[in-house]
Amino acid sequence: MSSLEDFSDILKRGEPLAPLTWLKVGGNAAHLAEPQSADQLQSLVQCCSEQSIPVRVLGGGSNILISDDGFDGVVVRLTADVFSAVSVSGTTVTAAGGAALSNVISESVKAGLAGLEQLAGIPGTVGGAIHGNAGTRLADVGNFVTSVSVLTATGERRELAEDALTFSYRTSSVDELVVLSCTLELKEDEPDAITERMRKVWIMKKATQPLSSQSAGCIFKNPRGLSAGDLIEQAGLKGTRIGGAEISDRHANFIVTSDGVTCSDVLQLIEKAKTEVAEHFGVDLETEIEIW
Ligand code: EPU
Repeated sequence: MSSLEDFSDILKRGEPLAPLTWLKVGGNAAHLAEPQSADQLQSLVQCCSEQSIPVRVLGGGSNILISDDGFDGVVVRLTADVFSAVSVSGTTVTAAGGAALSNVISESVKAGLAGLEQLAGIPGTVGGAIHGNAGTRLADVGNFVTSVSVLTATGERRELAEDALTFSYRTSSVDELVVLSCTLELKEDEPDAITERMRKVWIMKKATQPLSSQSAGCIFKNPRGLSAGDLIEQAGLKGTRIGGAEISDRHANFIVTSDGVTCSDVLQLIEKAKTEVAEHFGVDLETEIEIW
């Protein structure tokens, strides 16, 4: 049986996770691993499974709130080049799970392929985007995904074909440990027209969202037919601050953080928004971000 000692060249002990997240919140990972190949990643996951060591994969860190206690296990980051490859063949884009979604979008647009430009401005990795079916009001990533290759928590590789995949608002059936790669099917279009649509998405985003601040994007899912941002604003919470966390003045479904922020500050603010929106409007808000 292998042990973590066998992976000492790709493991660091007691690494802070806060700098790896957009909210800049979270304690240390007992171990932080940066495997250099899919085989090495698979061996590491199998080792952790055999030894009952908890493992999590951290993508772009843009949709996550990590506990002040950190994570007592192995946190994997897919930083090696092999985990971020993107290629285009005809109207099919193949991307490794650790590729930045922004890179997948720009490679598609360069190849004259339309669809993903509607997702412009979404941060994080394509693997993270598939796991949470990231999207905008125009489209979700799941609209384009035709297959996903995953690694399970026990270290088995599986190919998920289109008919095995389900995507709905900010959720997907892809909840295995790692998205190794995916294929996306797009449509040919005039590059100028695609670029123009992408520019419009960006302009809207910049006008309505606090993009220059530390945040994790929207904190809550929109309740059916309603806007979480609107409800939180109507509850009078814009600008409400707890410690280093504040409900954005620009968009009330964003929490922006500043130096010295803790996970507890953010969690208290989340609870406050939930409580006040429930009291004012009888609506239960559900978090969109992942909480470790
Ligand atoms: N609104 C307010 N006050 C606010 C914020 C919004 O009244 O503080 C109102 C707006 O005026 C608008 C409505 O709420 O009438 C919707 O706002 P917006 O267009 O900003 O969209 P959203 O529903 O709040 C969704 C996604 C965003 C995505 C945008 C644009 C969710 C939870 N959010 O936001 O995704 O960027 O549409 O497509 O679905 C994310 O998921 O992290 C995210 C940022």
